[in-house]
Amino acid sequence: MKFLRLNELPLAGKRVFIRADLNVPQDDAGNITEDTRIRATIPGIKHALDAGAAVMVTSHLGRPMEGSLQPGDSLAPIAQRLSEMLGQPVRLVQDWVDGGFTVKPGEVVLLENCRVNKGEKKNDETLARKMAALCDVYVNDAFGTAHRAEATTHGIAKFAPVACAGPLMAAELDALGKALEKPARPLLAIVAGSKVSTKLTILKSLASKVDQLIVGGGIANTFMLATGMRIGKSLAEPDLVGEAQAIIDIMKSRGAQVPLPVDVVVADELSALARANPIDAAAVRPDDLILDVGAKTAQVFADLIAKAGTIVWNGPVGVFEYDQFAGGTKAIAQAIAASKAFSIAGGGDTLAAVAKYKIADKVSYISTGGGAFLEFLEGKKLPAVEVLEQRAA
Ligand code: 3PG
Repeated sequence: MKFLRLNELPLAGKRVFIRADLNVPQDDAGNITEDTRIRATIPGIKHALDAGAAVMVTSHLGRPMEGSLQPGDSLAPIAQRLSEMLGQPVRLVQDWVDGGFTVKPGEVVLLENCRVNKGEKKNDETLARKMAALCDVYVNDAFGTAHRAEATTHGIAKFAPVACAGPLMAAELDALGKALEKPARPLLAIVAGSKVSTKLTILKSLASKVDQLIVGGGIANTFMLATGMRIGKSLAEPDLVGEAQAIIDIMKSRGAQVPLPVDVVVADELSALARANPIDAAAVRPDDLILDVGAKTAQVFADLIAKAGTIVWNGPVGVFEYDQFAGGTKAIAQAIAASKAFSIAGGGDTLAAVAKYKIADKVSYISTGGGAFLEFLEGKKLPAVEVLEQRAA
């Protein structure tokens, strides 16, 4: 991938417009409950400020109605957190599309929720051109929104005098490229979650690249069904057994494997108080719900992880929110933490597992992308990245 990078450009005295992804979770009172994405945006802003640029930052927050700003849509709490992290004031500017605000070199302003602007979601050209006119350098540092072709992620990049990737965007693309384009082998992917249907494209795309594919959760149940194993009343998609079999066949034809559970943890209900029953996979009864892999399977997975050169992790293999069904996910987390392989983790549930087992500093790269991370794994071109590549061509 070839695109301009912020750190390669002269910025002194320039008006720099940074599209960040500051779409962070908030509680009902609007307090920020998790600020990883804000922290990850700081290096790009600091770089531009230190280089003497006048800095404008914007982001979406949630999915507001275009046209009028409701109080819950405001970036005000984010302006305050940014200011604390940067150690300097961050002014919040409303109604900014037509300019009419000032920002001096060394200053940073936060431009209010860009998704409130009419035409943002439809990537309207008039809006994109107006925003491009605000800056000398457009920076996309919003990897989390790179799968959206919107006016601040795509249109503006076509019309700004210069368009480049910020350091977070560049780091994400470098890490994902290292994992999937030139991986140290064996390349192992762990793809788990409730449904094959939501991850079918990822599974198909990875089946032609990886050496081992560990599937987990409802996805593994559908794969078990495909190979004639019994799963009781566990979550699965029987209409997708053909697709599961096709993935197993693609892997087999390449000499690659999809290891399925040899033992599982079952219960008769899914609840915090459910009693966990570890059994052989062959002993699953009609009323059983499979809620985790068993200890032998977890060991098989851990051994594969220990031998991998590259590990891509998306999705927990059991209902790890309840400790009695967390053994498989915990074993995977610990094996990744102990591995010397290049490892990358992404997706909401996965990051919750990374946090629960306190392995964040032992994973080589943790993606800030949810949907964008998944679409990269699917092998899709991310529109916000594609336009940066076009501008660099
Ligand atoms: C995310 O949280 O995944 C990104 O910020 C994108 O948000 P969106 O799905 O509302 O476009």
